[in-house]
Amino acid sequence: MSLTFRKLHPVFVGEASPIELRAVHDEETLAKIRAGMDEFAVLVFRNQSVADAEQLAFAQRLDGQLHQGTGSRVITKNRLGNEALADISNLGQDGEIMQADDRRRQYGLGNRLWHTDASFRDPAGRYSMLHAKVVPPVSADTEFADMRAAYDSLPAETKALIEGLRTHHSIAHSRQILGFEFSQHEQEQLKGAIHPLVRTIPRSGRRSLYLASHQSHIVDWPIPEGRLLLRDLTEHATQRENVYCHEWRVGDLVIWDNRATMHRARPFDDSKYRRELRRVTTLDIPEPALVAAAGS
Ligand SMILES: [Fe+2]
Repeated sequence: MSLTFRKLHPVFVGEASPIELRAVHDEETLAKIRAGMDEFAVLVFRNQSVADAEQLAFAQRLDGQLHQGTGSRVITKNRLGNEALADISNLGQDGEIMQADDRRRQYGLGNRLWHTDASFRDPAGRYSMLHAKVVPPVSADTEFADMRAAYDSLPAETKALIEGLRTHHSIAHSRQILGFEFSQHEQEQLKGAIHPLVRTIPRSGRRSLYLASHQSHIVDWPIPEGRLLLRDLTEHATQRENVYCHEWRVGDLVIWDNRATMHRARPFDDSKYRRELRRVTTLDIPEPALVAAAGS
């Protein structure tokens, strides 16, 4: 059966035809999924029955090495016991819904700001794969914004202004925006990373705005001017015509390209309903086939 994608939004996001990802091992199908990622930047796979180990193994087959501890490892132990498996849930170590003032919950609220995964690390995150195990009976959606469309629609003078700029990303910055406080020891482990503001996605060659609430400043610019420009760019990039809202169903597995998109979780009554998803993110390191092609 051949894998096809149906567009869910005018500029990006594809929904895959029925397929069982845990059983995908052949290079031809994996290449089709990578090509789908290059075209759509977000792919939705429905009805996936995937155990944690299968999700980790599939991510490695699709895109290589996994990111270890992209999120809250500095403030708490991973509930799932594997740093490559991010616990995107409102559950505490005991498996029960966290209290409103739970520090891990407070930290996780930062995911409601527009961001791209692990941009505060070097290497950053490339593909993230989020699998829905338990979803609330109320809306608890994730929004995605297409950063390639955002770049394409910038005025020529803005494209010229931002060409070659680099920005500093820090998870401490995005958490402090919401009033989260780190200890001195925690802060010392959160140095952040510097990345280009405009990226070219290998294979597709498309250019993309690399934005995130983790961005603390533009390198070599005065902080206020840099932050103002980043806010303007974010406002431009997240206009509704660039945004897709994913309404989760149990079994959905959504893969997005962190180089080409931003995302944010939308609020819901997290003191009442359980929401449990697992995320695996790959390392944004050069792919061997592309390095070989560039060198030839
Ligand atoms: Fe995220």
